[in-house]
Amino acid sequence: MKLRIGQGWDTHRLEAGRPLILGGVTVPYEFGLAGHSDADVLFHAMTDAVLGALALGDIGMHFPDTATEWKGANSLQFLQHAVRLARERGFALINVDSTVILERPKLKDFRGAIRHSLADALGLSPEVVSVKFKTAEKVGPVGEGRSCEAQAAVLLSGD
Ligand code: C5P
Ligand code: MG
Repeated sequence: MKLRIGQGWDTHRLEAGRPLILGGVTVPYEFGLAGHSDADVLFHAMTDAVLGALALGDIGMHFPDTATEWKGANSLQFLQHAVRLARERGFALINVDSTVILERPKLKDFRGAIRHSLADALGLSPEVVSVKFKTAEKVGPVGEGRSCEAQAAVLLSGD
């Protein structure tokens, strides 16, 4: 059995008047994530983790943020593209883990919805999809409420 590990990281600025979309779930808040696409920082980190496990570059190589085609794009398609590339190469996802670092709002009430949304996107059972939340303890751009970060890890197996 071939095993592949991948990790991903992403960050986006928080801006008034933008939706806060995390793992495909819209969290009600006065600020949202700025970006060329829908700026779903968790889907972006997870996409890079899957691409990383396959050594297929990063999200910007597959979906350039200069292309008008991806303006306002639903990031679900980026993640599903990476999962499709894994399947085409004979790899299946075993489990994923992730962390969203955001000072406010509290996200724990959205954990179930985000896990299920991520699981659906990946074609996995929610039992093997972990989503954790952390503040940055008021330190740095995340801690000052200016940005949000996400980290992701995946394990793939192939034959
Ligand atoms: O960052 P800190 O360790 O203080 O976070 C404490 C807990 O608060 C975390 O374990 C997480 O469950 C929750 N949390 C949250 N939403 C955030 C940040 C943290 O629900 N934006
Ligand atoms: Mg991004």
